[in-house]
Amino acid sequence: MIIFKIFTFINLSTLVFAEIYNFPNNFIWGAASASYQIEGAWNVDGKIPSIWDTASHKNNSSIRDGSTGDDAGMSYYYYEKDIQALKDIGFEVYRFSIAWTRILTKANQVNQKGIDYYNKVIDGLLDVGIQPLVTMYHWDLPQYLQDLGGWTNPAIVKYFEVYADTLFASFGDRVEEWITFNEPKTFCNGGYGEGWDAPEIKTAHANVYHLYKNKYFTKQQGKVGICLDTTFSFPANENVTDELVDKAMHFSLGRYANPIYSADGDYPSVMREAIDQRVKMKGEDALNYYTSNLIKPSLNPADSDSEIDSSFDPSWKRSASSWLVSVPEGLYHLLLWIKDHYNNPLVYITENGWSDLPMTTEDDGRVEYLREHLATMSRAITDGCRVEAYTVWSLTDNFEWMKGYTERFGIYAINFTDPERPRIPKKSVDLMKQVVRDNFVEV
Ligand SMILES: *[C@@H]1O[C@H](CO)[C@@H](O)[C@H](O)[C@H]1NC(C)=O
Ligand SMILES: *[C@@H]1O[C@H](CO)[C@@H](O)[C@H](O)[C@H]1NC(C)=O
Ligand SMILES: *[C@@H]1O[C@H](CO)[C@@H](O)[C@H](O)[C@H]1NC(C)=O
Ligand SMILES: *[C@@H]1O[C@H](CO)[C@@H](O)[C@H](O)[C@H]1NC(C)=O
Repeated sequence: MIIFKIFTFINLSTLVFAEIYNFPNNFIWGAASASYQIEGAWNVDGKIPSIWDTASHKNNSSIRDGSTGDDAGMSYYYYEKDIQALKDIGFEVYRFSIAWTRILTKANQVNQKGIDYYNKVIDGLLDVGIQPLVTMYHWDLPQYLQDLGGWTNPAIVKYFEVYADTLFASFGDRVEEWITFNEPKTFCNGGYGEGWDAPEIKTAHANVYHLYKNKYFTKQQGKVGICLDTTFSFPANENVTDELVDKAMHFSLGRYANPIYSADGDYPSVMREAIDQRVKMKGEDALNYYTSNLIKPSLNPADSDSEIDSSFDPSWKRSASSWLVSVPEGLYHLLLWIKDHYNNPLVYITENGWSDLPMTTEDDGRVEYLREHLATMSRAITDGCRVEAYTVWSLTDNFEWMKGYTERFGIYAINFTDPERPRIPKKSVDLMKQVVRDNFVEV
């Protein structure tokens, strides 16, 4: 017996211990997607062109493989396959986005066929007990609004309100959770938004928040939030101060989060009023986290707005995407930073995921990334963070913006030359099934 025990001890010390990380009983699990990346049917049933249709149709588009989202995963036709894929895992929530270009015509008239499509998706989800979590704007701006100046034209605020009003009126009897904008920092920075920090987005978010509060909340009792993305910044060396780390975090997350979540936000009063209302409406904060960086003071401060240089630690595992390395500790520290800086709000992790090459169904890299990130999320919850939900990015492989179909984020693979677009489970589907069933993850 003693010998056996010693033997076991030796054995375990040379193997890897599996640690168990638990989640609260009522934790909500799900997956996420976005309209342009999955739907296809780009010119069908009254849909008008978006900026992504225009960009991808250019003869010399800078999309890596010259591809488009014209067909993508064909979710416009195969949404039932998506719902089945969610159901097979046991997910309780699906975060998807609505294409503005399907809902309203150029003359701002309601396009009933677009409404019909999302009714089918929403009803199909609810039929199998999955809650819809709807993003109103995931980067596919109507092209005609871009032609008017897009997010730099203050008039867009009103257009967005009309759109949001249509969504609340059409779907708000069944959709209880809304996100106005996905990653405003990223789309303002990217090639297809314009203007660093467009104030129109903050105003549009605040106005839509008000609209919901005043016109729909009494009846629909839902929530309206905004989805922010950030990395976590670690000091690159022992001389980097905590102040610089804080500065980097405020620069990355704070520019949108401060006005919304901190008591002394320095934004327009309409925004502050929205914050006051928010407390009564009980929103939660949607957070996208993928990766982290090392920071140090910039050697050429003039070259960078924040006067900070960032880099990756060479030991961090690399994905198929140049910007994405695996830093699970970053998620832990980010959640604690949010807890400490914004009075411990409720947080939904609305995106987190890993990219690899096409048709990698044995996706061990993703399985490891997800295990390690779920474990640090569990530790953050144990340490007092109020994380209530997690939706993995992404349900299926999809059109990855400028990278076309060369980088894949799905937990289900899609062969984009197969006309049936079957959703093929990767290994990470098994992981998520286990996590949803047991409410713990082993690392
Ligand atoms: C793209 O190139 C084709 C021929 O190579 C041409 O017919 C077409 O007009 C071009 N389209 C645009 C948008 O430039
Ligand atoms: C467009 O692509 C073609 C073929 O790849 C190339 O010859 C041409 O120089 C490109 N034009 C521009 C404006 O980049
Ligand atoms: C940190 O600062 C000290 C003192 O100025 C200096 O000797 C050292 O080289 C610095 N370390 C790094 C990594 O910059
Ligand atoms: C993708 O689908 C096409 C058409 O059905 C098929 O010829 C091809 O073998 C498939 N590729 C993979 C990797 O399954």
